[in-house]
Amino acid sequence: MSAQPATLFVIFGATGDLAQRMLLPSLYGLQSENLLPDAMRILGSGRTELDDSGFRAFVREALETFIPAAELNETHVTALLARLHYQPADVSNADSMAALCQVITNLRHGDVVYHLSTAPRFFAPITAALGTHNLSGPGTRVMLEKPIGTSLDTAREINDGVAQHFAEDRIYRVDHYLGKEGVQNLLALRFGNALFEPLWNARYIEQVQITIAETVGVEGRGDYYDSSGAIRDMLQNHLLQLLCLTAMEAPSAFEPTAVRNEKIKVLSSLRPITAHDVNVETARGQYTAGELADQTVPGYDEELGRDSDTETFVAVRAMVDNWRWRGVPFYLRTGKRMPERETKIFIQFKAVPHSIFGSKAISEPNALIIRLQPEERIELELLNKTPGLDRHGIRFAKVSLDFDAQEEFKALRRRPAYERLYLDAIEGNGTLFVRRDETETSWAWVDGILAGWEQAELHPSPYPAGSWGPTSATHLVARNGHEWN
Ligand code: BG6
Repeated sequence: MSAQPATLFVIFGATGDLAQRMLLPSLYGLQSENLLPDAMRILGSGRTELDDSGFRAFVREALETFIPAAELNETHVTALLARLHYQPADVSNADSMAALCQVITNLRHGDVVYHLSTAPRFFAPITAALGTHNLSGPGTRVMLEKPIGTSLDTAREINDGVAQHFAEDRIYRVDHYLGKEGVQNLLALRFGNALFEPLWNARYIEQVQITIAETVGVEGRGDYYDSSGAIRDMLQNHLLQLLCLTAMEAPSAFEPTAVRNEKIKVLSSLRPITAHDVNVETARGQYTAGELADQTVPGYDEELGRDSDTETFVAVRAMVDNWRWRGVPFYLRTGKRMPERETKIFIQFKAVPHSIFGSKAISEPNALIIRLQPEERIELELLNKTPGLDRHGIRFAKVSLDFDAQEEFKALRRRPAYERLYLDAIEGNGTLFVRRDETETSWAWVDGILAGWEQAELHPSPYPAGSWGPTSATHLVARNGHEWN
């Protein structure tokens, strides 16, 4: 049966932090553009005891807090609130789940989307309750928020549990990076233009760097973050997804199976990193007190309130062992309390094979920099002749062809990632969601690094907040004759 637009959208964890900051504002964004199906109801659920009107007040407050006043329109707010219902539930209490399922049964009159925005340990029990009450068959889809477990084993356990009630093509694993405009543009850039593809391989590319730098610390999420760390929180999902989109072959079509088939080939080609090489192939850091934007910020341990051996920075040299990428390092790095917030992909091409301009002319390799956030821009670095008579030889200047997508498309609203992901889930399009084998193959690779760290006793090295990570990260690239961009 092909998917029909949802008639009911159920959020588990509807009073949580993610819901307030992202999910409810995204539903508002869709409502304000009349993109939600006319008759679709929205049911919130969580452990907080609220009734429908209490939930409506809660949602109004979230919208007023997290959407700039100039973007809020009372007509759309009222229209969104009119769709809302709430039913408290506690997954460990069968009666409360039965009551919730009864409300779902009453409200649905066609397809249903469930978004499980809860801790992952609840995924299997929630889907089991839905299954028991005949609410998991065809016409239902389940979105699973990250993280899917903390290791390959725990991910498998969750996936097995959910699979007992939902077929894989109705399981939508969220990686919100895939909902970002800039990330989708990566595919457009690579496969909509003929220019790059012939150069997009080991013959012409020297190295690739993918950076997700954040200025924030752990912000009250210490309990979750400390059991996760940068590798599980960011690298296993967001960074590896960006790596896949950068390195994969052209899919046969822009549709779920074809795109995911190509991504999984990249993940399966990742060279394992073990205890023997963690010291040279990875860098692990934890921020200490430092200066950021002219403010003194505390170290991770202080923020957490205890000593911890969890990394808040990770860098890895990933090698994609296939024909296209033989020998090209993909440096991945992410960290909290970096000097600036930026997500970018830096592609450095090889130098010209022979310079005809003599030894005095600089010879800098070309680079393509794809900035995904906060700016969305694409820069192509070239060498250009400096105007002059060149009596002592040509002089080059490094110049940049710089395209600013936000400026070019300034008339168009930039949507938060969840607007796109919610609309896709409501309409039954799974292209921008993660398939089971992708999650598990990523975990298998990350587990190898985690085991390596443990065996080699590689603890996080300190780096001051407001710096680009520990010196081991500089050595990681320098060892291969490279520098961080
Ligand atoms: C989340 C992580 O998945 O992504 C957070 O759990 C991180 O730790 C966030 O801050 C970053 O997302 P964005 O969209 O702000 O880059």
